[in-house]
Amino acid sequence: MEEFAKILDKKTTAVEQIIYSYLPKEVGKQSRVMEAMNYSVKAGGKRLRPILMQETALLFGYSGDDIKPFMAALEMIHTYSLVHDDLPAMDNDDIRRGQPTTHKKFGHAMGILAGDGLLNYAYEVCAGAIAESSHTDRAVRAFKLLSEKSGIYGMIGGQTVDVLLTGKPVDKDTLDFIYRLKTGALIEAAMMIGAVLAGASDNETEAVRKIALGTGMAFQIQDDILDVESTTKELGKPVLSDEKNEKTTYVTLFGIDNAKEKVREYTNQALELFDGLGRANDFLRELLIKLVSRKK
Ligand code: IPE
Ligand code: IPE
Ligand code: MG
Ligand code: MG
Ligand code: MG
Repeated sequence: MEEFAKILDKKTTAVEQIIYSYLPKEVGKQSRVMEAMNYSVKAGGKRLRPILMQETALLFGYSGDDIKPFMAALEMIHTYSLVHDDLPAMDNDDIRRGQPTTHKKFGHAMGILAGDGLLNYAYEVCAGAIAESSHTDRAVRAFKLLSEKSGIYGMIGGQTVDVLLTGKPVDKDTLDFIYRLKTGALIEAAMMIGAVLAGASDNETEAVRKIALGTGMAFQIQDDILDVESTTKELGKPVLSDEKNEKTTYVTLFGIDNAKEKVREYTNQALELFDGLGRANDFLRELLIKLVSRKK
């Protein structure tokens, strides 16, 4: 346990260095937007998605450099989704990753533009990397996954239904749709890109998608639980944000105990599929388990 925490810490620091190396320089008359972009990325965060990407690639025996721009790009896209999620027009939250949200610090217009900037810069970074990739075909497939899972059939689609149904009754099917897209999709992107860049087969990549989906569902339900059970200090973002925004969540729909049970169920399903792959990455397996009891 102690050992796992130490390894995770080390890996997070290493992944952070990779992400930082792709951030834009704060120069030119438009430097304010780069400042806001870099502020939001450097504020912190668990770096879960790039770690999952790297570890899934390792699971399939890959440890090359082609993955680095994709790791950075996914964290940029994830961070943009948070910057926009916190805007007054959406969840209207003032704290993120333990700091004032980007729009609080830089103003609303810069919050919007920094989000746009991160999304677009993610693609600039990847497009540049594809040309230099040692396996162009794999890099192109990874790029397609990155764009699709971030877009209207992925994260943006989920956020759309989430905001449209704020304050309205939501049934389980619709809530699952929202979670699968708003949170599951980027976790699918993370693990599938790792698999694809490592040269995993189509069947293996599809199995990885299912593992990621279960992990994503568990992750969002745990996020709902922490929204009621944690503290702003520990979480680095406001608690009771969902109540404030009259969101239907697994907690409001099923109660806290059932929500916790669901986190375990989704995780166990993911672990079963993981073991079915017949490949070993003990750290990744342990990470999936640890997400169940995460406190932030
Ligand atoms: C928060 O994601 C948004 C959700 C999908 C629940 P994380 O909990 O991964 O946020 P950071 O990256 O650690 O800040
Ligand atoms: C957001 O879900 C998922 C995103 C795509 C940003 P939440 O609105 O619950 O995320 P937090 O709790 O603000 O991080
Ligand atoms: Mg939200
Ligand atoms: Mg939110
Ligand atoms: Mg939340």
